[in-house]
Amino acid sequence: MAEQSHGGLNDALSWLALTEGLVQLDAPRSFADNMGNLINGVAPTRPLPTPFPVSPNDFAAAMAEMDQVRREDPWLVQALRSDHAGELAAVYIYRGARDAARLRPLPEGVHHFVNQHLETERGHLHYFETLLERRERSWLSPVWLVAGYALGFLPTLAGPHALYTTIHAVETYVEEHYNHHITPLLARGPKNAYPKLTAALQEFCSDEVEHAVDAGDRYGFRQLEDDLQGITLARAWSFIVRHGSATAVAIAKQI
Ligand SMILES: [Fe+2]
Ligand SMILES: [Fe+2]
Repeated sequence: MAEQSHGGLNDALSWLALTEGLVQLDAPRSFADNMGNLINGVAPTRPLPTPFPVSPNDFAAAMAEMDQVRREDPWLVQALRSDHAGELAAVYIYRGARDAARLRPLPEGVHHFVNQHLETERGHLHYFETLLERRERSWLSPVWLVAGYALGFLPTLAGPHALYTTIHAVETYVEEHYNHHITPLLARGPKNAYPKLTAALQEFCSDEVEHAVDAGDRYGFRQLEDDLQGITLARAWSFIVRHGSATAVAIAKQI
């Protein structure tokens, strides 16, 4: 009976496409332990999750850098917590968009756009889930997950332009967000003790720029520029999404 109701819950979560994140929220410490083995020269017993955006050696070096981050730069742990929350939301934005795109006829390009970006975001999320200990992640992860899903699902139901406006607004904000912590790290020059971590953040940031450009391109750059400057729904929605994302990041840094 208990198993049956558990199955029912799983079915409901699967329908909402939420299970992957919930499983991941519970799983990743073993991957971090595995990286500890790699640092200590012991053969890894478990592979990294796929897709994974950096090489195992670069990731092992970043894991080693994290020890110093935890001791000397708690502000960066906070920033990484918000990165994890943001990437979790990003995966679910695209999963929400993918599910909504199945409910109404949309051009093939929309599906391609969503699936390609989703794959990149999954890599980003795997990185932070493996890097951070559970206690270092946001307690509000389920909230970010559901909010992300809604933010992808609802605009996609409204149509491709609403989806592209949303993605352009989110990804433009995420670029700014990453640069808030990349810039002070780069300013340390050769004294930056976290080169592998910084390089990964730079790589993810440039992926987010590509996502924003792709969304703008598909919307039509000239048209988007005009719509974001005029008194339009796109401008109002873009404002809400960017400020909502900034608020979520500020909260995720704290809890
Ligand atoms: Fe991302
Ligand atoms: Fe992105």
